[in-house]
Amino acid sequence: MSNSAVGIIGVGNVGVAAAYALFQRQIAGRLVLLDTDTRRAEGEAMDLMHGQALVGRVSVQAGDYADLAGCRVVVICAGVNQKPGENRLDLLNRNAEVFREIAGRLDRHAPEAVLVVATNPVDILTTVMQRLSSRPASRVIGTGTMLDTSRFRALLGEHYGVNPRSVHAYILGEHGDSEVPLWSSATIGGRRIVDQEVNGRRFDETALQALFERVRGAAYDIIDRKGYTNTAIGLVIAYLVRVILEDQKSVLPVSVDPAGVYGISDLCLSVPCVVGRDGVETPVPPQLSETEARGLSASAEVLRTSLAGMTI
Ligand code: 2OP
Repeated sequence: MSNSAVGIIGVGNVGVAAAYALFQRQIAGRLVLLDTDTRRAEGEAMDLMHGQALVGRVSVQAGDYADLAGCRVVVICAGVNQKPGENRLDLLNRNAEVFREIAGRLDRHAPEAVLVVATNPVDILTTVMQRLSSRPASRVIGTGTMLDTSRFRALLGEHYGVNPRSVHAYILGEHGDSEVPLWSSATIGGRRIVDQEVNGRRFDETALQALFERVRGAAYDIIDRKGYTNTAIGLVIAYLVRVILEDQKSVLPVSVDPAGVYGISDLCLSVPCVVGRDGVETPVPPQLSETEARGLSASAEVLRTSLAGMTI
């Protein structure tokens, strides 16, 4: 088998969901789990290994940074959790400190790996990791609005009575309160939903705005109920890792520095990009309506303001 070793740093709720998805779908041939709580990482590795007879030969080990040598992808889920009522940007300074340490260790032990950042606030922490790591920025990717886009497609699929996989619609910008739904380029079966009927349904602005608000508020709604979110982000991570390992060149809304696309640079937020074995290749920016373009600039400003107070 070609090298499909994947490291996961931080095996809290999100790291474990990612490990489970990578294991269960046999995306990684070898999983290395790291956590500051080493016994927890050991316990999670043992627990997964006990499913090997049912899933197949994916090896799972708890390890240290040195065990990440040779991993093609390292997923970073480490950090402190979002509390009820706390927004993602509140987490910023607490998690940036954790990232300073991780960046140095990864550069020593896994300099070739593509890094997938999942810890919130993901756009800020992807920016932090890009600035702190010595690898090219294209090899540091945030999960960004892949999750919001998946939520959006799921709810649009339900609304229109079609499979979410047949819904092509993006949420871009911050993974958070200022995210932007792209109605103008949303299509189902090649039909633009804003001006064409799909499956007997016209664009109902009030209903669809409410649908978007459910997407934007999803993390708060779930955290209010179960205390954290983990399963859908675990699937997002596994999907993104597979795209990298298989050099799929899929177009995904991931958090990157757009380097001038839409007039935005020097910070990370989500724009659709081609993703392959070396990480992010080229952006594939859809045309935006004026409202969407304004929304995206405002989203970039929210992130820029958060970054401004930081010394990275
Ligand atoms: C989510 O959106 C909290 O970022 C996490 O589920």
